[in-house]
Amino acid sequence: MSEQLVVDEEKIQEILHRWETSPRFLVEILQDIQEEYHYLPREILIEVSRQLNVPLSRIYHIATFFKAFTLEPRGKHLINVCMGTACQVKGAPRIIDAVERELAIKPGETTKDRKFTLETVRCLGCCGLAPVVTVDGEVYGQVTPAKVSKILKKYD
Ligand code: FES
Repeated sequence: MSEQLVVDEEKIQEILHRWETSPRFLVEILQDIQEEYHYLPREILIEVSRQLNVPLSRIYHIATFFKAFTLEPRGKHLINVCMGTACQVKGAPRIIDAVERELAIKPGETTKDRKFTLETVRCLGCCGLAPVVTVDGEVYGQVTPAKVSKILKKYD
């Protein structure tokens, strides 16, 4: 299912140099790779392992330990639809349906053009605004299915 990624050697070197090509900064290096690619591509982890002389298993251990890291391809923009109780009561499932219709993806999936990833979360802590959606951390409250397409249009 995963497509072959073209490894951008220059980009990897730039990130490694930024962190002195040192295993001491492995977490920071992984953060920068994730920021660049929106996930941690296996091909790049293999290259990092080789250049830092760190076993690939250790890199995978860190990549799976921290929740902020993901090994699956992700979109440029992350949509979180809150499925906490207050948001569910106020119609969050209809918001998910609207995003699914708009982008043809289900929660946990990424659009083919890698533009959006859809996820659900449990209570974003602003229940007064239910139903709540965030895109790249930006909060949208009292979202209706009709507003979904307008919100998504703001992101390219
Ligand atoms: S339940 Fe959605 S913000 Fe609390």
